Amino acid sequence: MVEIYSNHESLSHAAAKLFVSLAQTAVSQHGRFLAALSGGGTPEGMYRLLARPPYAQQMPWQHTEIFWSDERLVSPDDEESNYHQAYTLLLQHVPIPQTNIYRAKGELDAPDAVADYLNLLQRAGNGQTWPRFDLILLGLGSDGHTASLFPGDTAALEAKTPVTAVSADYNGRPAKRITFTPLLINRARHVLFLVSGENKAAALAAVQQKEENPIRRPALAVQPNAGVVHWLADAAAAARL
Ligand code: 6PG
Repeated sequence: MVEIYSNHESLSHAAAKLFVSLAQTAVSQHGRFLAALSGGGTPEGMYRLLARPPYAQQMPWQHTEIFWSDERLVSPDDEESNYHQAYTLLLQHVPIPQTNIYRAKGELDAPDAVADYLNLLQRAGNGQTWPRFDLILLGLGSDGHTASLFPGDTAALEAKTPVTAVSADYNGRPAKRITFTPLLINRARHVLFLVSGENKAAALAAVQQKEENPIRRPALAVQPNAGVVHWLADAAAAARL
């Protein structure tokens, strides 16, 4: 089921509302909100909204812990860094403790970045093998990729580790990345796919109609074991549903 909004702005408001509500529920149920953000242009509207009233005031920032579902291997002050994007638009404007921001170290080479991120995840896991995220935010590429799980990358899709390194060319963005794998994503309590724009229409339809397999459309690998998947799209992206 896809919730459809007329444009990117109303989609962003719905996403911000859901983000706040999942955060409040998580904190009231177990004292913390463990969330992973994504990159790409789609969540920018939601990030901007969460940085200001009314949403910013409704968020339990002191109990919010932030990771990223994928990161490009660039320095943290690079415009292409997913950390940089969310920090600039959102995190620097709100009272989240700096120690609750767990960025993947894009300035390292791939093996070191993976090892460091695994370490951070383990610390956030509170004694569990790997953390169970309250929310993992994901985008959808026009090729059906999500996070940095790209079509044809069987090794990443079937990895037995929660984070892996990949290399993929997409829209001229940095090719070297690290990403959560389905193993970790599918432990989440909630996954939120945000999809915007007409160039996503074919991929969204294929994923919703389950016409293809996860190797061709990696978003199909997202099937939480005991969690909820929310699909929010704007009308342009939903045009072929
Ligand atoms: C990244 C992502 C990626 C993104 C999609 C959609 O780092 O590039 O996390 O998976 O979410 O490519 O990107 P858009 O929102 O720009 O279409």
